[in-house]
Amino acid sequence: MTTTNRHILVTSALPYANGSIHIGHLVEYIQTDIWVRFQKMQGHDCIYVCADDAHGTPIMLRAQKEGITPEQLIAATDREHRADFADFHIGFDNFHSTHSEENREIAETIYKRLRDGGHIEKRTIKQAYDPEKEMFLPDRFIKGTCPKCGAEDQYGDNCEVCGATYAPTELKNPVSVVSGATPVEKESEHYFFKLADFELMLRQWTQGEHTQPAISNKLNEWFEAGLQSWDISRDAPYFGFEIPDAPGKFFYVWLDAPMGYMASFKNLCSKRDDLDFDAWWKAGSDYELYHFIGKDIAYFHTLFWPAVLSGSGFRTPSAVFCHGFLTVNGQKMSKSRGTFIKARTYLDNLNPEYLRYYFAAKLGSGIDDLDLNLDDFIQRVNADLVGKMVNIASRCAGYISKKCDGQLSKTCAEPALYNEFVAAGEKIAALYEKREFSHAVREIMALADRANQYIDEQKPWALAKEEGKQEQVRDIYSMGINLFRVLMTYLKPVLPVMAEASKTFLNIDSMQWSDIKVPLLDHAISKFKPLMTRVEQEKVDALIAASKEDLKQEHHKTERKASIKTVNENIEPIAEQIEFTDFAKVDLRIAKIIKAEHVEGADKLLQLTLDIGNETRNVFAGIKSAYAPEELEGKLTVMVANLAPRKMRFGVSEGMVLAAGPGGKDLWILEPHQGAQPGMRVK
Ligand code: MSP
Ligand code: ZN
Repeated sequence: MTTTNRHILVTSALPYANGSIHIGHLVEYIQTDIWVRFQKMQGHDCIYVCADDAHGTPIMLRAQKEGITPEQLIAATDREHRADFADFHIGFDNFHSTHSEENREIAETIYKRLRDGGHIEKRTIKQAYDPEKEMFLPDRFIKGTCPKCGAEDQYGDNCEVCGATYAPTELKNPVSVVSGATPVEKESEHYFFKLADFELMLRQWTQGEHTQPAISNKLNEWFEAGLQSWDISRDAPYFGFEIPDAPGKFFYVWLDAPMGYMASFKNLCSKRDDLDFDAWWKAGSDYELYHFIGKDIAYFHTLFWPAVLSGSGFRTPSAVFCHGFLTVNGQKMSKSRGTFIKARTYLDNLNPEYLRYYFAAKLGSGIDDLDLNLDDFIQRVNADLVGKMVNIASRCAGYISKKCDGQLSKTCAEPALYNEFVAAGEKIAALYEKREFSHAVREIMALADRANQYIDEQKPWALAKEEGKQEQVRDIYSMGINLFRVLMTYLKPVLPVMAEASKTFLNIDSMQWSDIKVPLLDHAISKFKPLMTRVEQEKVDALIAASKEDLKQEHHKTERKASIKTVNENIEPIAEQIEFTDFAKVDLRIAKIIKAEHVEGADKLLQLTLDIGNETRNVFAGIKSAYAPEELEGKLTVMVANLAPRKMRFGVSEGMVLAAGPGGKDLWILEPHQGAQPGMRVK
């Protein structure tokens, strides 16, 4: 490692301003924060900036739903995010917003440079349009019937039932999620960034260790597939920045989002005299720039972003560091299992440093997913932090306080052992630098074992009972405290609060990496106070229970919204007129539900066995959100009996049951009078 001071600018991805921070996000912010704290401890000029990602359709629509302006929504989220991050000890040097003057200026500058460089082209494209709401619809704001398997209520880009992917224009019976209207196709002129202009630059950039091996492989696939121009404009209404020379057209949220890194830094420059924006961002700057992101957004950061920067005369990133996704107890975070844990819910129940430590103990430099196993979490934190680390300090402090007036020995009892601990710092630093945190933690814990072992072997408590051994006892305990200091210094990037408490205990005002070269000798320490308490199973249980409560509250909110919707806008327009003969073709029958079961792997479907008099039918119905199977068994309903059988992912569906309602919990199957008999024709 170089000894000269490095200039390092670090970012984490900008969280969307329409949702709460959850423990999945925290993998990234904790990973970045540890790395930044490590760099600062090395004495480098390291700056960590972030911001809220405030633009785009979801934010605009969410604000409308809540009856507030997007500005009000993002201001409220900004407060919430800042508090969550602060309480997890994420030490941003600046936290800003993409909806800021700095970002507008940067976005306009970059756009104009790209345009003047010939890297923007215009093309007219056809897109789904909501004629009632008068807006173009992103794919996930369109729902309809899957063109492949006929499953209803599927999103505009893929089907949950059969897994097919398609264009929203292929959906059958499409509806706008926003208004319930049937989308129409409409033309509009869009602005495109010509990514292919940068193929050579990108191929070179990706050769140069700017990306991890797994990402470089992915990039090669993207090169093979060919670099398509990127649609960077959206039509009004849109919450974002208007394109300077194109009234009514706005920058797509993903264009100005990464510019938010620059904007946040620029905002920091206005608060600090020692920072020169251009020195950090000019083309060819030898200052370092790193982006920490999740693997889901690699495409934006390793293709579009370097190309946009290079095309507009700015520097490109030194590296983009991707991480994997968080699972809890081996599965995707799940609202119903109570493992979709919001940052605030966690903070209400547990110490944030437990999670910081656990993530550190699990994180490597690759893009593998990492698992938060709650049993392992409790065991690990208690064994390592309380059982090993706190133990060293607590077992040594009492004697020094009581018998030596808090004064440590004048000489170091075991210089060789102490130097071994200091020497290990080089390897540990190299591991932090490479983001091999789990390996670093393993090394530190092995040293903690050594320290405890040393005290066990010396048996100072036995010596203390012997005549004339007081100095020797003090030497051993002083040695233990000095080893603790070294270890706590190594863990400081992970555990800033415990490190701060340790500084008070050790009575020192600096805990930099280089401070440990010299042990604390003839130095007075303070009275010991517990530096960390054990994780309690009950608190973890309470966290899971509280996360399930969070889900219920959300349900209430959406239910209320859904019922408001039924009153005003959820009545679908009447379909095209048909002749009586068309209707007569539909054979509706009374059916008795003799069995209703869950379908393994399907979120929306129940499998029904229907008795229609002379035969039974197997039907898959998308009514799981509204009914539990046991509620259905024995009920009478109405089915379309002459619908051609449809092959679905889970089996063949031999007909359809009739239901009404806007969806979700508000969905009711048709229930005929109890006197009806299975098999009767409905006319
Ligand atoms: N707004 C964009 C990023 C723009 S950066 C110019 C975005 N926001 S996000 O809120 O969805 O995600 C923020 C970061 O958190 C992303 O890097 C994302 O990969 C990460 N994570 C979100 N959920 C995660 C897990 N469950 N596990 C690990 N990281 C996760 O994407
Ligand atoms: Zn399908």
